[in-house]
Amino acid sequence: MYFKQFLNERCGCASYVVASRRTHEAAIIDPAIETEPYDDLLRERGFQLRYVIDTHIHADHVSGARRLASQYGAELCLHESARVAYPYRPLHDRQELELGQLRLRVLHTPGHRPELISLLIVNPPRSLEPSMVLTGDSLLVGDVGRPDFGGGDVAAQFESLTNLLRLPDWVAVFPGHFEGPCGKGMCGRPSTTIGFERLFNPLARLDRREFIDRVGNGVPPRPLNMTAIEATNRGRADMPWVMLTSSPVVREAGMDELRAGTSDAVVLDVREPEEFASGHVPGAVNLPQAELATRLNDVPRDRPVYVICQGGFRSLRAAQFLCQCGISNVASVKGGTEAWRSAGGELTQESASAPKPGIVETEWAHAGGLSYSI
Ligand SMILES: [Fe+2]
Repeated sequence: MYFKQFLNERCGCASYVVASRRTHEAAIIDPAIETEPYDDLLRERGFQLRYVIDTHIHADHVSGARRLASQYGAELCLHESARVAYPYRPLHDRQELELGQLRLRVLHTPGHRPELISLLIVNPPRSLEPSMVLTGDSLLVGDVGRPDFGGGDVAAQFESLTNLLRLPDWVAVFPGHFEGPCGKGMCGRPSTTIGFERLFNPLARLDRREFIDRVGNGVPPRPLNMTAIEATNRGRADMPWVMLTSSPVVREAGMDELRAGTSDAVVLDVREPEEFASGHVPGAVNLPQAELATRLNDVPRDRPVYVICQGGFRSLRAAQFLCQCGISNVASVKGGTEAWRSAGGELTQESASAPKPGIVETEWAHAGGLSYSI
């Protein structure tokens, strides 16, 4: 067999090429929108692409699955419960796809998303036992996928984790992410084993109630441009440009500049609505980063824009995206709302009883950003 993992540093995603060296048939799993690396590999190895499989409808990156499937005449595969506006081959639990001598066995592992599947790789000439599992965003290294993306279900996530951890110790685990906003405690390694995760994944030894409390309590912010990305991956929009594909240098504004301000400047708070409600810089306008691309017309082009978040990471990437879209009079507020508060700045609360926001912000939730910690 042939196996290769592709790591996308910008969004923290992993994709995979699996192929039979006997028949040269290949499958690509969870491809990124930049498909040239797969093109190069298929050409250099003389592989014939037979399947393109998305483990689920991604919310953090635009999938290259449809592009590859149509380019190579391959079958586009998703779980049968996937609700998309284009035709695909529906896969069901326990189904096996033939790939030369290999077998790709489908395991329905909902939780992060209802249609999420994992794929067991079996190479019968060596063993009838699986040697690898591609887990999408079900089991991550040291974590599991967040369960709050449309239709996600934390109880289903517990069942899926339990099922995956019943696999033999030796099964190598290759997840859909090594960092990024789809989990809140990923280790950073790009692979692991079932045996190691059973012993050392902090979520693996929790009972159902503890698991639901732990996983359901606090999630990273929704990814940049999630609304547009998900609509594109469902075939209900066509916005591949919403991916941040450049790294424009963005000016960072300090507290003095923010305080002095200019009368026509806009302070754009890209945090989640619950974070905004719990306290924001006076006069700031809330436009969550997840909705930035779909509400781009709300961003003024004729006035200075200060982008602010909690600690300065989301705002930097959001400001980079605005620059990429041609909105250049933009600065990111260094240190964010937290720095404003620490410097003695007043915060406006939407209501006195605004609940404490359940948003977890970590350095690793911002794959592809600059490498400083919050
Ligand atoms: Fe995901």
